[in-house]
Amino acid sequence: MRDRYAVVGNPVAHSKSPQIHAEFARATGQDLEYGRLEAPLDGFERTVAAFRSQGGKGLNVTVPFKEAAFRYCARVSERARKAQVVNTLVLSGPDVFGDTTDGVGLVNDLARNLHFDLKGKSLLLIGAGGAAQGVVQALLDAGVARLLIANRTVSRAQALAARHGVAACGYQELAGERFDVVVNATSAGLAGEAPKLPRSAFESAALAYEMVYGRDTPFLVQARAAGARASDGLGMLVEQAAESFLLWRGLRPDTRAILEQLRGG
Ligand code: ATR
Repeated sequence: MRDRYAVVGNPVAHSKSPQIHAEFARATGQDLEYGRLEAPLDGFERTVAAFRSQGGKGLNVTVPFKEAAFRYCARVSERARKAQVVNTLVLSGPDVFGDTTDGVGLVNDLARNLHFDLKGKSLLLIGAGGAAQGVVQALLDAGVARLLIANRTVSRAQALAARHGVAACGYQELAGERFDVVVNATSAGLAGEAPKLPRSAFESAALAYEMVYGRDTPFLVQARAAGARASDGLGMLVEQAAESFLLWRGLRPDTRAILEQLRGG
């Protein structure tokens, strides 16, 4: 039987992960299958347990289960422990190892695909949910000079920032602030909304990055209107997938071909 992997989430029907991992498997000559698992909102653990009992080797975890996945793991990587979220499960018998590849996925997309060097830059991270949690440490490790976390609910931003020794604020306090790069880690775009940022937040930004992909969100529209270069999160999705594939199969696939394929429609 071929080794089985899947992405677990809710909703998960439109996930591009199966297409990405199928291409990785083809390109690297790995014999595996990769599917989709929609878990009920109150049924993450039993969905994963059923997949494990059928011999499943690994899972990618997406919205809204990344925190549940962290709690589910017997062991986690150091970076997952800091982030308190898990997007990759490595399953072997009774052992469940969790890691988070979202942060390195974002940093790799910025560096490799967008040719944007984070070193010494001033960065505004918007959001304080699972998506934001997963990337803070990797952004700091990439050498940003300043990282400010802003969130609609300020207390959540403060709690996340305190764990990493950085600053936090609400949206109103951003008036007059300038950043080299603005990263939107909120889920507002999924609802066709944008975080209510003052226009000045984009004014000297060389890059505005939206973690949501596959749609032109109001954040991207707003950033372009303010003169910033804008990117969606498709490259991050592909890069985090490559890191998950590495964890499971011991080799890192090239990401260029699949990214071009996905961008081409
Ligand atoms: P995820 O795992 O996608 O990060 P989450 O943990 O539910 O999901 O967090 C969602 C994030 O998007 C939060 O930062 C949330 O802000 P609050 O903490 O204030 O709820 C943010 N968010 C969602 N919809 C938003 C909107 N319309 N405007 C601004 N922020 C929004």
